[in-house]
Amino acid sequence: MEYTKNNKYENLLVRNMRANIRLEEPADYRKVEELTREAFWNHHLPGCNEHYLLHIMRDCGAFIRELDFVAEIDGEIVGNIVYTKAKILGDDGISREVLSFGPVSVLPAFWAKGIGSALVEYTIASAKESGHRAILIYGDPAYYKRFGFIPAETFGIGTSDNMYAEPLLALELWDGALSGCKNKLIFGKPSES
Ligand SMILES: CC(C)(COP(=O)(O)OP(=O)(O)OC[C@H]1O[C@@H](n2cnc3c(N)ncnc32)[C@H](O)[C@@H]1OP(=O)(O)O)[C@@H](O)C(=O)NCCC(=O)NCCS
Repeated sequence: MEYTKNNKYENLLVRNMRANIRLEEPADYRKVEELTREAFWNHHLPGCNEHYLLHIMRDCGAFIRELDFVAEIDGEIVGNIVYTKAKILGDDGISREVLSFGPVSVLPAFWAKGIGSALVEYTIASAKESGHRAILIYGDPAYYKRFGFIPAETFGIGTSDNMYAEPLLALELWDGALSGCKNKLIFGKPSES
């Protein structure tokens, strides 16, 4: 499925369901935080805090409004993905801006129907067309390799503690985008603008 950036994708066919992908609007915030809570509830640990994380992330300087998308089925919001800025501090002393995403959430009743993949693929295409360098995430390699993510270690990129971590994954948005970026990744901080 080829996605192009137009800030809205209507009538998308996701495994026989008609879906829309569009930018999140302030009127959606409560609904999207509720679906995030439903998606993460008791999933990785008892309860969850991802919905609160999302709540405060939107006011963070590193938050990217142009990459905050929801997926709708029959007018109901069933999924969301958000992006923040991060940076790689290279051995050469240069700081290079990259993207990170998460939380990415789909309502449990809609899991395994292609909604999560549609949100990830659509926003990768959108980020690429906007000229962003690369996306780095902490995620399950088994899930994210389908989108082209590979271990960040492949590029010599480690955590902010200068450690290699299996879930730290990277996707170049153009060939060679991460060449020479060797060193460590710093995720966006609320104080950054
Ligand atoms: C992860 C999530 C966003 C995926 O959305 P989705 O719409 O269910 O995903 P898709 O339908 O596009 O893809 C489903 C496939 O991914 C696999 N998958 C889903 N989550 C996975 C995970 N954590 N690890 C490995 N595989 C996973 C499914 O087994 C399925 O595999 P298949 O295509 O071989 O059948 C959704 O399951 C969710 O909201 N989970 C809870 C929140 C979460 O963990 N978010 C990700 C971390 S930020």
